[in-house]
Amino acid sequence: MDAFLPEHKRTIYCGQVRTEHIGKEVVLCGWVHRRRDHGGLVFVDLRDREGLVQVVINPEGSADAHAKADEIRVEYVLSVRGAVRRRPAGTENRNMPTGEVEVAAASLAVLNESKPVPFSLEDDTDVAENVRLKYRYLDLRRPTIQAMFMKRARLARSVREYFFENGFLEVETPVLTKSTPEGARDYLVPSRVNAGMFYALPQSPQLFKQILMIAGYDRYAQIVKCFRDEDLRADRQPEFTQIDVEMSFVDREDIFATMEGLMARVFRDVLGVAVATPVPRMSYREAMDRFGVDKPDTRFGLEITDHTGLLAGTEFRVFREAAAKGGVIRGITAPGLADASRSEIAALEEVVKIGGAAGLASFKVTGAGVTSSLGKFFTVPQLDALRVAAGAKPGDLILVVADAFDVACASLGRLRLHLGEKLGMIDKSLYHLLWVTDFPLLEWDREEKRWAAMHHPFTAPLDEDLPLLDTDPGKARAKAYDMVLNGSEIGGGSIRIHRKDVQSKMFGLLDIEPEAARAKFGFLLEALEFGAPPHGGIAFGLDRLAMLFSGAKSLRDVIAFPKTQKATCLMTDAPSPVDAKQLRELSIRVTAPEKK
Ligand code: AMO
Repeated sequence: MDAFLPEHKRTIYCGQVRTEHIGKEVVLCGWVHRRRDHGGLVFVDLRDREGLVQVVINPEGSADAHAKADEIRVEYVLSVRGAVRRRPAGTENRNMPTGEVEVAAASLAVLNESKPVPFSLEDDTDVAENVRLKYRYLDLRRPTIQAMFMKRARLARSVREYFFENGFLEVETPVLTKSTPEGARDYLVPSRVNAGMFYALPQSPQLFKQILMIAGYDRYAQIVKCFRDEDLRADRQPEFTQIDVEMSFVDREDIFATMEGLMARVFRDVLGVAVATPVPRMSYREAMDRFGVDKPDTRFGLEITDHTGLLAGTEFRVFREAAAKGGVIRGITAPGLADASRSEIAALEEVVKIGGAAGLASFKVTGAGVTSSLGKFFTVPQLDALRVAAGAKPGDLILVVADAFDVACASLGRLRLHLGEKLGMIDKSLYHLLWVTDFPLLEWDREEKRWAAMHHPFTAPLDEDLPLLDTDPGKARAKAYDMVLNGSEIGGGSIRIHRKDVQSKMFGLLDIEPEAARAKFGFLLEALEFGAPPHGGIAFGLDRLAMLFSGAKSLRDVIAFPKTQKATCLMTDAPSPVDAKQLRELSIRVTAPEKK
């Protein structure tokens, strides 16, 4: 192995060598991606974060380099000095940006060795994710993964530039704090000096950013870590990053315009895509009715149609009973699926069952009319009216669910996405942004049998719905909005309550006793009494944006050191037991059985 000397320092990244450098001497530093020995002539693909370049080591060029070439193995760390030259005709590689050139090694230093790697670092490597996560530093060396992190860094830079240019102040909010209710469980941190007391890690900086508005900071933005102890999925991590924003003296329109500017900027900088503004808007109710979800993927049609009026009075008991219980009868028309086999239809039924529906009725549309195994329950005019209402053509299949509104939405929303994929109806090259507005203020918590805030308890009701707080709170809508990209919720926010009386009333509705409200949020209630300006804001999920921008399937791909579904880090083995002494200092006794 060789010492790292000043002459070993890089003059250019491997991935940046081009024909314009032909004839020049360069020094490259990087990792051996591949090594091929062609009887005396050794080829090394040297890799750094910018890409790969071919290095040729031949005995005539440098005997010393050639001697070392024998010991070189994959992932050894090299410094190579040599001249850039054109590859011999016929040996160019058009798939590589550096494919027209190579570097003829004049000298070579082996700066470090590597054990044989546990998996190939080629882009198409097929290795279990837990192995990739244990050796995350090797996984992170892979060019596809590095490209994702470059995109993520570009995204964060673009966000910061936009906020800087638009007069936002970056203020850091605490990580050791008090619980903020965003609907998940808190991560707690014990206090040593206040035995028996705990900090909560912030689920978001929600209360601090509101307090900053009360403090007169007017426009705040921060790229900030948030922590939520919730059930993890591909698009959720316990520790994630928000682009957090709050503005004073604004209404919804100001927030929309400013955030559409942000989106236009990051799409341009990161993807080179021009987004159409203003971004379309849709109310929560319309989204549920047409798409079955509050985050519709509007890149394709297949909308849900309502047949309650048409089918409630038919002979089919399932439809009659669902409607009689206040439910809905709704469907989706699948183009060209009239020939679907029984097992194909059974598979579609499984999809709606995951959404909670009891079953799926199907009606085939042919040139001769509508046929169904349930045909005997319907008159020919009823079936014909269904065909017209469903907008079905011969060859289509009408799929119908009869259930409570939320179950029908959840089931058909899933079915729609499933069919969209199955039928290849989603143009993956599109980016569809959408604002979803006018969310319900409250949702009924069936387990706790009380109202819960749908966004969070600091969200203001629509002015025209304020009286409903006293009469029919479940019907009140909120000044809350989400931004949706291709069917993923990328951000959410609201105009806040800035009056203490309204905030106290809201806590009352949520069954938070005045005493408990004071203990939890007394500081906010008090601050609201000292000249709180009208204000509102939003937070975007930076990881989710990075995931969608880079085409990754999981947030884990765009977070450098992510947690598994069980909230563990396979590289560091966190979380882990701690010393008895440390626990004693914290006045903590662990009751869980010791893990082997
Ligand atoms: P909300 O809870 O909607 O709002 O979160 C805002 C955005 O953060 C992202 N996000 C997550 N990303 C990864 N993993 C998670 N576990 C996770 N949870 C949320 C989503 C989401 O749209 N304080 C409010 C914002 C406000 O009102 O201004 C809040 O946190 O992309």
